[in-house]
Amino acid sequence: MTDQPRQLSLNAFLHDTGHHEASWRHPESSVERAHDIDFYVELAQRAEAAKLDGVFFADIPGVWAATPYRPTAHLEPITRLAAIAARTERIGLIATASTTFYEPYNLARLFSSLDILSGGRAGWNIVTTQSDVAARNFSLTEIPSPEERYVRAQEFVDVVTKLWDSWEDDAILADRESGVYFDPAKVHPIEHVGRHFQVEGALAAPRSPQGRPVYVQAGSSNDGRAFAARNAEAIFTAHQTIEDAQAFYVDIKSRTAKLGRNPDHVKVLPGISPFLGATEAEAKELQHYVNSLTVPAYGLAQLEGLVGVSLAELELDEPVPAELFAGSGDVLDNNRSRLQVVANIVERDRPTLRQLLHRLAGARGHNVVAGTPLQVADLITEWFENGAADGFNVMPPLYPQLLDAFTAQVVPILQDRGIFRTEYTGSTLREHFGLPRPESLYSGGARPETGIDLAGAARA
Ligand SMILES: Cc1cc2nc3c(=O)[nH]c(=O)nc-3n(C[C@H](O)[C@H](O)[C@H](O)COP(=O)(O)O)c2cc1C
Repeated sequence: MTDQPRQLSLNAFLHDTGHHEASWRHPESSVERAHDIDFYVELAQRAEAAKLDGVFFADIPGVWAATPYRPTAHLEPITRLAAIAARTERIGLIATASTTFYEPYNLARLFSSLDILSGGRAGWNIVTTQSDVAARNFSLTEIPSPEERYVRAQEFVDVVTKLWDSWEDDAILADRESGVYFDPAKVHPIEHVGRHFQVEGALAAPRSPQGRPVYVQAGSSNDGRAFAARNAEAIFTAHQTIEDAQAFYVDIKSRTAKLGRNPDHVKVLPGISPFLGATEAEAKELQHYVNSLTVPAYGLAQLEGLVGVSLAELELDEPVPAELFAGSGDVLDNNRSRLQVVANIVERDRPTLRQLLHRLAGARGHNVVAGTPLQVADLITEWFENGAADGFNVMPPLYPQLLDAFTAQVVPILQDRGIFRTEYTGSTLREHFGLPRPESLYSGGARPETGIDLAGAARA
C-alpha cells in the first residue's frame, strides 16, 4: 500500500431528506423526491466531487406501519447503488444486506455484480437485523437471538467469501480459437456443508475487480465486536464522546491483532451528524428549529422499541429514569450497543424525556454536533489524531443542504491540514480505504475448508 501520511476516510451516509427524524418537515426538504433515483445520484455526485470515500445506504426489510411520522419504504439499496454506479466514477458504493434474511448465494452474486459494473467500488455492510418487523416478513414470528444471528452470520460470510473467490482472477480465457471460454482448473465448486447452509457453487459471476467487495460491519455489542474483529474491514459505530470512541477503538484494534489481522486494515468510522452555521449560535438555532419539528409520538415509539417497555406514563418534561436501561431481556439484548449509548446519555446528562427525544431525533444515538465549519473540523481532527477514529460516517441532518455545507466548508479545512485527499489516487473502494486486494482462497491450487462449522471453530 502507499506510504502517504495517515488519511481520514469519509463516507456519506445517505438517508432520504436527512438523518434528523423531522428533516422532511423542513420547508426546503426534498421529501417529494424520496423515491426519485436522480435525487440520490445527485447526492452521490456531490460526495464524489468532494472526493469522499463512499456513500452508504442502510436498510431494514420491513415497514413500521404503526408510526406514519417519517418517510419510509425506501428503494432497495443495491438497486439504487447500481443506478448510481452508472452515473459516477470513483465514489465507493456501500449497501446494507442482512445475513438473517438473505441466502449467501444470492447476496454474493448481487454484490459481485455491483462490484463488476462499478469497476470495483462495492462494499457490503454486514448486519444481522435486530427487528421483529423484518422477521415477520420472512416466515418468522420474532427475530432470532443475537447469539444465533451472529453464528449464522459467520457461516454466511465464510460461504460468501468462498463464492467470491470461486473464480480465480484469470479463469476467463474467452479463446475463440480453441472454443474454450474459461479454464475449468480455475473455477471452483465450493462444496460447503455447514450448520446453516449447503452451497455447491461456483458463483454465477466471475471474480470482481476488488477480488471481494469491502466487508463493512455495524454491530458494537460483545458478539458484534468479535464478529467485526474477525471479518470487518470497515466498522460503522456510534459514540457520543471521544472517551467512549477511544475505548471502542482500542478494543477493536486489539481484538483484530489477537486474531493475527493487521489493525490498519480495519477502519473504525463513528457517525457524526453536523449542524453547520457561520457562527455556533446560528448552527444551534438551526438545530433547535429542526428539533421543534419533531412529532414526539415518533421518538417515543423509537425509544420504546429500544427499551422494550411503554413510556406512556412518563412526563415529557420530567427527567428520564435511569432504571429504564437496567436489566436484560430479548428486546434489551437485541440492540445492546445502541441501548448503552442512550443509557450513557441519561447517566451523564440527566435529560428530560423531551430533551432525550431531541438528542435521539438527530441521528439515533450517533454524535450530533452544532457549530462552525472550523469547530466541526477540529472535532474530526481531534478524534482522528487521538485514537478514536480512522474516519467518519458523515450523517447530515438535512439533505442536501448540510451535505453541501460539509463538503464546501469542512472538507477544505481537512484537506489544508493534509489529513484528507484533494484528489482520488485510486479507483476502487479498497484503494480509497487503503485496504489490500485479497488473493483468491483457491489460487495456487489451495482448497479452503469445505464442511465444518467454521464459526464454532473460530470461537473455540
Ligand atoms: C452506522 C450504522 C449503520 C447501521 N445500519 C444498519 C442497517 O442498515 N440495518 C440494520 O438492520 N442495522 C443497522 N445497524 C445496526 C447494527 O447492524 C446492529 O444491529 C446494532 O448495532 C446492534 O448490534 P449489536 O447488538 O451487535 O451492537 C447500523 C448500525 C450503525 C452504527
